[in-house]
Amino acid sequence: MQAQRFDIYAPIHKGMRAFFAHMLVAVGRLDGEDNEEVAAVMAEMEELLDFCRRHLAKENGYVHPALESRRPGVTAAIVADHEHHERDIAGLAALAFTIRHIPALRRESVIQDLYRHLARFVADNLAHMAEEESENNRALWETHSDEEIMAIEGVIVASQTQEEAGKTLRWMLPAMSAQERLRFMGKMREVAPEGTVESVITALRPHLRSHDLRKLEAGLCISRRPMDFVGVI
Ligand SMILES: [Fe+2]
Repeated sequence: MQAQRFDIYAPIHKGMRAFFAHMLVAVGRLDGEDNEEVAAVMAEMEELLDFCRRHLAKENGYVHPALESRRPGVTAAIVADHEHHERDIAGLAALAFTIRHIPALRRESVIQDLYRHLARFVADNLAHMAEEESENNRALWETHSDEEIMAIEGVIVASQTQEEAGKTLRWMLPAMSAQERLRFMGKMREVAPEGTVESVITALRPHLRSHDLRKLEAGLCISRRPMDFVGVI
């Protein structure tokens, strides 16, 4: 049996799939006459598009050069997808901008437009991510050791601002299985400054199911303060 290789795509793609699914539902049920809901959902839409732009930039800036340096031409199809995604992101941002700025009674058809375009964008991204997880991973594994792939990931993580890291973890960690989450946070505890794990868990608290939170805290031997029980029992 082949040993399990390090998968640089799996955790972040789980987070992206979760965010895509969340936004499809949020836009699909959006009440265009409810100004508060429109503002909240369009703010989330901007967050999703920013998330996608950052993700494309990290893959283009760090993963593809590593692959091209050892197997020239291997990323051609994926690069073309990325250019397509950049145009789609600009189109979705324009629709979200329009929805924010037109009168409530004219929003319905533009929201329908956004929903359909978002659904197509999500479908393209789901296919694209599956391709990366099979073809790009195959090329990475054939040309790089796990230590080298982990080093690429390390550079990507270090290139994020603290705010960007928080936004990434918000979607990535709740989308993981309990075991994946515990391994991820266990590694974070080994390398990050003291208190980082605790502050990440505090930020995640509203987004984790209570039994997932319990498993994570038990696995990391974190005891709860009385205030941590509020809203999670
Ligand atoms: Fe990609």
